[in-house]
Amino acid sequence: MKAVVIGSINMDFTMGVEHLPAKGETIAARSFKESPGGKGANQAAALSRLGADVMMIGAVGRDGMGEILIRSLAREGIDTSGVKVADASTGNAFISVDEAGNNTIVVYPGANYELNMDWVESFKEHIQVSDFVILQMEIAVDTVVKSIEMARKQGTRVILNPAPARPLPDHVYPMIDIIIPNETELALLTGTDDIRAGAKQLLKKGVKAVVVTLGDKGCFYADHDKEITMEGFEVKAVDSTAAGDAFIAGLTVSLGYGDDIKAAIRFANAVGALTVTKAGAQDSIPVYKEVEDFLRRHEK
Ligand code: RIB
Repeated sequence: MKAVVIGSINMDFTMGVEHLPAKGETIAARSFKESPGGKGANQAAALSRLGADVMMIGAVGRDGMGEILIRSLAREGIDTSGVKVADASTGNAFISVDEAGNNTIVVYPGANYELNMDWVESFKEHIQVSDFVILQMEIAVDTVVKSIEMARKQGTRVILNPAPARPLPDHVYPMIDIIIPNETELALLTGTDDIRAGAKQLLKKGVKAVVVTLGDKGCFYADHDKEITMEGFEVKAVDSTAAGDAFIAGLTVSLGYGDDIKAAIRFANAVGALTVTKAGAQDSIPVYKEVEDFLRRHEK
């Protein structure tokens, strides 16, 4: 199964805190860690650990952090020939994680915004022979929109994780095979907190299927024929960072291997749940065998 990820690559600075700071509050962190992240890179790493053949198209800065991040992607077995080295600083994410595993993230995009369509176009042939193109929104919206148009022309299936959510032009929705927002992103895109109504709105705009991730509550799936609500697995939460990224990779891989949507959602829920049990972004993502064992242990 071949996948191309077009998206962000960040260095994450993660602080473990007793509680997430309130407005105007200064608190001391209990731990600090610098590790590879970025929604695009996390999804690429997760796809690769789950057995997909992955190319990453993204941008880092011409600096030490950029070099570390490219090396780390390559160590994951990802084709990094699509990673541009730009004259800007590498993207950073500042993450606070509380004792229950909840987080808040502030991203400085840096080089991620230097990823332009000329660069993406040069990998058109690779995109054409891939099963899926997976995008998020930590890069310029214009690059996201044009990449979707290009992938559609090549006949490659498009999965969009609209994170962070920003308005998209209407003509793009019918080109999306699966859109995977969380509850907050769905509300921002549709103006409603009602998950079913929000999902229906996206279907009406033309997407083929919607999966709304609901954290530890599981997810809600809808396409033009059916709806599926699936509970999440109960695990001891350590850090929810990259759980959504892992879920997306799990769903893609499972569908790519020919599973039906129900089985793919269950597999994705398991990948997300396992990711929550460990600290960090890419550091916490399981390999295929761990997911298989987990699912076996949770067979009803
Ligand atoms: O989805 C988690 C990711 O969001 C982090 O790794 C951070 O880099 C931000 O992009």
